[in-house]
Amino acid sequence: MRQHVNPLSEHYKKFEPIPPMELLFGMPNLPLHIDIGCASGDFLFELANQNTSWNYLGIEIREKLALNAQSKLKNSDLTNLFFLYGNVDNLISEYLNRFSRKPFADSISLNFPDPWFKKKHHKRRVLQPDFLIRISEIMKESAHLYIKSDVKDLFDYMNLVISESLIFEKLESENNYMFNPQNIKTEREIYVSSKKLPIYKQIYQRKF
Ligand SMILES: C[S@@+](CC[C@H](N)C(=O)[O-])C[C@H]1O[C@@H](n2cnc3c(N)ncnc32)[C@H](O)[C@@H]1O
Repeated sequence: MRQHVNPLSEHYKKFEPIPPMELLFGMPNLPLHIDIGCASGDFLFELANQNTSWNYLGIEIREKLALNAQSKLKNSDLTNLFFLYGNVDNLISEYLNRFSRKPFADSISLNFPDPWFKKKHHKRRVLQPDFLIRISEIMKESAHLYIKSDVKDLFDYMNLVISESLIFEKLESENNYMFNPQNIKTEREIYVSSKKLPIYKQIYQRKF
């Protein structure tokens, strides 16, 4: 059973003060990957261990999951990983307004976002046209955007929003030299794979 929190609720307009990017990581100048809706962070722990030449930032709106990820991080030696609790939309705007007026993300993943099946709830979906513009503003030129979902309707919707933005182009084939985070299974993906359900995925690249 999926458990959802309403990202539009007043509760998520407030969040803890966030440290500047330079203080989040042992080596702040490494390329940065951001995972939106990272749950307990297992996907990012795997990535941070496998590819130590990148920094990883997970953002999660469900407090219990974010605390779980933060406590696992405290018990590890990783310095290339950090978790923020809150609504990604507010956190990204906060970063843009306070710390960084220039793009800082080298890639972003949106793995199995909450589908919000009912039409009247579609506005709660994390990927909205204006949100896509805001995340594109933090992404460097040629940065990658990775999406995955087990819900075909949601995947088609995300694909449409991204294609219509004209900011990104689809990467039809993987560059052999690129480290592809989509090769690592997320928490939801492990469950979906165990049920042998289809998984839809796509990589996009910021055009300019
Ligand atoms: C279906 S789960 C997928 C979790 C993980 N990405 C995976 O693939 O296993 C979607 C996650 O996104 C989080 N989420 C939903 N809306 C969010 C928002 N506005 N900001 C941050 N996280 C959000 C949810 O709390 C949930 O943990």
